[in-house]
Amino acid sequence: MEKFISNNFLKKVWFLRCKYLFLPEILRKEGFDMQEFAEKLLGWYRENGRSLPWRDTQDPYRIWVSEIILQQTRVAQGYEYYERFVRRFPDVRSLADADEDEVMKYWQGLGYYSRARHLHAAAKSVAAMGRFPATYEEVRHLQGVGDYTAAAICAFAYGLPCAVVDGNVYRVISRWMGIDEPIDTTAGKKLFAALARELMGNADAALYNQAIMDFGALQCTPSSPNCLFCPLNDTCRALREGKVNEWPRKSKKTKVTERYFHYIFVRSGAYTYINKRGKGDIWQHLYELPLFETDRPMAEEELLASSEWKAFFGDLEPTTVALVEKGVRHVLSHRVLIADCHEVVLADEALFNHRFRRVLVSELQNFAVPRLVSHFFSLLLEPNQ
Ligand code: ADE
Ligand code: SF4
Repeated sequence: MEKFISNNFLKKVWFLRCKYLFLPEILRKEGFDMQEFAEKLLGWYRENGRSLPWRDTQDPYRIWVSEIILQQTRVAQGYEYYERFVRRFPDVRSLADADEDEVMKYWQGLGYYSRARHLHAAAKSVAAMGRFPATYEEVRHLQGVGDYTAAAICAFAYGLPCAVVDGNVYRVISRWMGIDEPIDTTAGKKLFAALARELMGNADAALYNQAIMDFGALQCTPSSPNCLFCPLNDTCRALREGKVNEWPRKSKKTKVTERYFHYIFVRSGAYTYINKRGKGDIWQHLYELPLFETDRPMAEEELLASSEWKAFFGDLEPTTVALVEKGVRHVLSHRVLIADCHEVVLADEALFNHRFRRVLVSELQNFAVPRLVSHFFSLLLEPNQ
């Protein structure tokens, strides 16, 4: 009978705070062949690895930009954004010198806009420093750079022996090793970081990290991994125990809340009104149509008679109201936005003038807006609609 790794034992190792001093020993005793793991992974990567634009460079700036984009964006979508971004901002200096509105415009549609603001702010401090940070500690101090991104930059740009731990890596390691420890706790994160470092051994850091990320993205996928044709299937504990879908484990489910947005498009001849979102929210510094929220979904008649509608318009008395679209769903990490858009003509625009910015409808495309809002723009600006 084969001995399986005991999660309790690993926990004890952590609680003893011996910083995984004995981890290599434990793993060997538990029967893991880490060298074989790395060799098979690299063999798989030679055959199946993707050729991606940020892999042909060792320029830390470009690698940084790519990793920030890929933090919350799939490669297929991030690819084009990356190329457009580095074409317009080919180096730290050009990004540092750019206007924030323009940087946001290049990020439009990618979501998680604080990434762009942090990237821009960090570019300014790098430009002021006169050189790109060169050690893990320095890189880690850049705004918007966490453990994952710092490790990726250091491994890909400088070949430093840092093991990258992203969602792909959690999945591959937890499955191959059969680790029950949740990945969203401090103890779990430390354990996986130590395991990742151990598994990398003295393989080439740039190559190995790209390999395990691609392996997770293409082979050991979240649902229906290709176990049948997997080079690790003879040693994979998840496969052997029939627990492929149970790992990686999380300690808590993220709660998804719904919010109900009602966007107002004011038709005022060739003009309309927009708003710039303020500090401290997901769409900070992006533009949008004027908007109010309700705490539940409402049918049209109910909405037009609601206290929220009245509070928003006050004495402005919309004279014409047309529904542009209802119930558009926009899914964020732990929120679902359900949005309507109403086109209105106002009896008196004086108050709107005060609250919102008056712009030419034909110029709406020049403003950086969330994807949800650009969807409504496309309906409103469509000549035949
Ligand atoms: N996801 C995050 N970083 C990545 C990279 N460098 N290559 C592929 N996928 C990634
Ligand atoms: Fe992932 Fe399946 Fe391969 Fe195990 S056998 S590493 S679960 S793809």
